[in-house]
Amino acid sequence: GRTVVFHGPQQAGILTPLQRHAAFLALDVTAGSRAELEELFRALTDRARFLTTGGTQVSGGPGAPPSDSGVLGVDVVPGGLTITTSVGASLFDHRFGLADRKPARLRAMDTFADDALDRARCDGDLLLQVCADDVDVVVHAVRDLTRATRGAMQVRWRQDGFASPPRPSGTPRNLMGFKDGTANPATGDPRTMGDVVWTKAGTVAAVDGLPAVVEPAWTTGGTYHVVRLIRMLVEFWDRVSLHEQENMFGRRRDTGAPLTGTHEFDDPHLERDPTGDVIQMDAHIRLANPRSPGSERLRMLRRPYNYDAGTDANGNLDMGLVFVAFNQDLDRQFVAVQKRLEGEPLVDYISPFGGGYYFALPGVRAADDWYASRLL
Ligand code: HEM
Repeated sequence: GRTVVFHGPQQAGILTPLQRHAAFLALDVTAGSRAELEELFRALTDRARFLTTGGTQVSGGPGAPPSDSGVLGVDVVPGGLTITTSVGASLFDHRFGLADRKPARLRAMDTFADDALDRARCDGDLLLQVCADDVDVVVHAVRDLTRATRGAMQVRWRQDGFASPPRPSGTPRNLMGFKDGTANPATGDPRTMGDVVWTKAGTVAAVDGLPAVVEPAWTTGGTYHVVRLIRMLVEFWDRVSLHEQENMFGRRRDTGAPLTGTHEFDDPHLERDPTGDVIQMDAHIRLANPRSPGSERLRMLRRPYNYDAGTDANGNLDMGLVFVAFNQDLDRQFVAVQKRLEGEPLVDYISPFGGGYYFALPGVRAADDWYASRLL
């Protein structure tokens, strides 16, 4: 299987091109002290390093329970696995004496105008984002990580996801049938990623009505990791005309092209197009990115997955989007855009019910480094 490099100044699973399968686990830490918390992060690091690199599982001996679930057989393939470890605001409460180290914008997830949040499916001390090319590799990693850390953390909520292969080409599609991720900033451009994704320690100047804040020293190389669990009311959506669906996003369903263009990656024209085509004032892409002076500060890196959770108690299909975004500054980017989207026509067809705000830790740099080594 394919290997995604584990060690580095930043974690994998952020700029990494979307793998096909994912699990999102929010966890609450039950460790009783700072020393036990360090042990937990060290154990997570060891397992993540092994699982993402691959190797041969070690037997516990014939009289002992096997050390590995065996789900992948004896040879644990890396399978394109990434494990991205992020911390939630509650980790910085009184328990571990970390209050003065909290990333400046981190807090419990806000409730927005169109939300129907189940608080049991929100927030958490930690978030593990586990992504791989095959679903068994994801499941094996989840089994291994939870087993190695039992006693120090417990699952608060979990949502699994998948990404479509290119159909027929370009960006994967969401379960409303539209390509999702087209207008993302270029992950291969370090300057753009430095402005959009990576948080930097030190003073963040006041901007766009937000107060100036100071990001703690350890945050450099991390990023605000937003997850929103958004159900799609697909039965209802499937009764909407194609024309109306396309106007809601401002893009064509078949090609992903903006309504003012021909190809997926054509730039949308927000003024009335010479052809007479128009992207409506309340279209999703126009609200999310007004393309006006200063709006480059709103840009974020989205890394969304689809979810299919079967059917609900009423027999309706339970599917939707695990919206994932990485932001240098939670408030300047995600929160500002989410507020701009309040009341958009799409809200009649979706229902955000969970998720959280997290901060993805800086990378594990080498074999002797571990998650949170600069935080603790
Ligand atoms: C663009 C779908 C929620 C932010 C798009 C596009 C689609 C889409 C189809 C156009 C293609 C693309 O550039 O990716 C959805 C669906 C959602 C959802 C189905 C909910 C179920 C959100 C949320 C946010 C967001 C919660 C952030 C608060 C954006 C941004 C763009 C975008 C920033 C790019 C705009 C541009 O630069 O052109 N979305 N989206 N979306 N969406 Fe969403």
